[in-house]
Amino acid sequence: MTIAKKEWIDTAVSALDKAYVPYSKFPVGACLVAKNGTIYQGINIENASYGLTNCAERTAFFKAVSEGEKEFQHLVVAGHTPEPISPCGACRQVMVEFCAPDMPVTLVGDDGVIKETTVEGLLPYYFTNKDL
Ligand code: THU
Repeated sequence: MTIAKKEWIDTAVSALDKAYVPYSKFPVGACLVAKNGTIYQGINIENASYGLTNCAERTAFFKAVSEGEKEFQHLVVAGHTPEPISPCGACRQVMVEFCAPDMPVTLVGDDGVIKETTVEGLLPYYFTNKDL
């Protein structure tokens, strides 16, 4: 594993401690890496009005895009789960909006269990602006 990738995984895992999860107690951390190397850390942020919860992945994307970033090379998602965490459908659709289908996504569980996939691997037969 490259030093850079280890840093990206560490960034996603260290985000777990910052997750705002008073209701689910299910922390998720994300590390979104721009093509220029800039790192955007994301956490899930819950709300007493449960449906307003924002997932860690979308937090990372919205931070990045609101800073003018639109080109990405890698996403890491970490959870305190025995198996590598699996991103929700809404987050998969947001990945498709901003990432190439073959962009690598690394999913991390407890004890460093890792699954490697891609944006298209997570959302085959995806809907994009080309379909509009
Ligand atoms: N969650 C994420 O942050 N990312 C996902 O891809 C799956 C779910 C969060 C939302 C909520 O705060 C908690 O996990 C339980 O659903």
